[in-house]
Amino acid sequence: MTVTVRAPGKINLHLGVGAPRSDGFHPLVTVYQAVGICDDVTVAPSPGWTLGVSVPDWMDAAAVPVTGDNIVDRAAQLLARHHGIASQAAVSVTKAIPVAGGMAGGSADAAAALVALDRLWGLETPDDELLSLAAELGSDVPFALVGGTALGTGRGELVEPVPDPTTWWWVVVPSDEGLSTPAVYRRFDELNPDAPAEPAAAATTLAALATGDPELLAGALHNDLQDAALDLRPDLADLLDLGQQSGALRGLVSGSGPTCLFLADDADAARAVAGRLAEHHDVVLVTNGPVAGAHVVTYA
Ligand code: C5P
Repeated sequence: MTVTVRAPGKINLHLGVGAPRSDGFHPLVTVYQAVGICDDVTVAPSPGWTLGVSVPDWMDAAAVPVTGDNIVDRAAQLLARHHGIASQAAVSVTKAIPVAGGMAGGSADAAAALVALDRLWGLETPDDELLSLAAELGSDVPFALVGGTALGTGRGELVEPVPDPTTWWWVVVPSDEGLSTPAVYRRFDELNPDAPAEPAAAATTLAALATGDPELLAGALHNDLQDAALDLRPDLADLLDLGQQSGALRGLVSGSGPTCLFLADDADAARAVAGRLAEHHDVVLVTNGPVAGAHVVTYA
């Protein structure tokens, strides 16, 4: 038997960040959207544990840790331990979500592995248990299970779906070099010594989403980590300018970066923006959201 589960990358339409909590994590109020750049995790029976990763041409395979502490290893061990069974499977991850890019690619892989191994091992883990295992693995992992568009609170792990019937079109420009999420949060702390305990609320973004109007959403996009990411990677400011000059309604850094996002009016506009950006950047992707969270695509 082989099970393939697909999980989406995320973007943050609103990312409000507060002062660090006593556990070192930052309180967040975020609006997540799952977009159609997805990783696939395929699992098959095996007497032991193997993990392989394949990446598209443009991605640096060496950037994906396949030995030791890969989040897929941790997801499998956590699920197996939860049920008191051995963690045995042959696992392969096919990546499309930029690595260390601010789109929660590792979290998507963890979510996909939880769902795939739950099927392979015949566990039928209840949703609430899967969500709490996901939260143990990382702040963004529960959202990768839920998908769609959702309000995230706590450290990002508490997710509540938000109705979002519109198809929003995005141009996505990954970077050659990733950014470390903890490093971006540290720079946020340095730049914002007086950050409020309560993160910025998401009301404006949620209201804009509900209108279905890309211009209103463009005006409402908000990322408190953007200044920290631009401080670490000043070249991204030029990319954001270029996207906006190329017809995007708005450019912003995705999560902790360095992937940059550009909202377009519709599919045609997104392709036109992408065409212009591709004159200067090797990898320019067009996608849309919201899409589904981790889901089975092959069960054979
Ligand atoms: O939860 P996750 O493992 O994805 O977090 C990675 C790192 O990002 C954390 O160790 C922490 O440095 C930072 N982080 C944070 N506040 C959050 C989420 C992540 O400071 N809400």
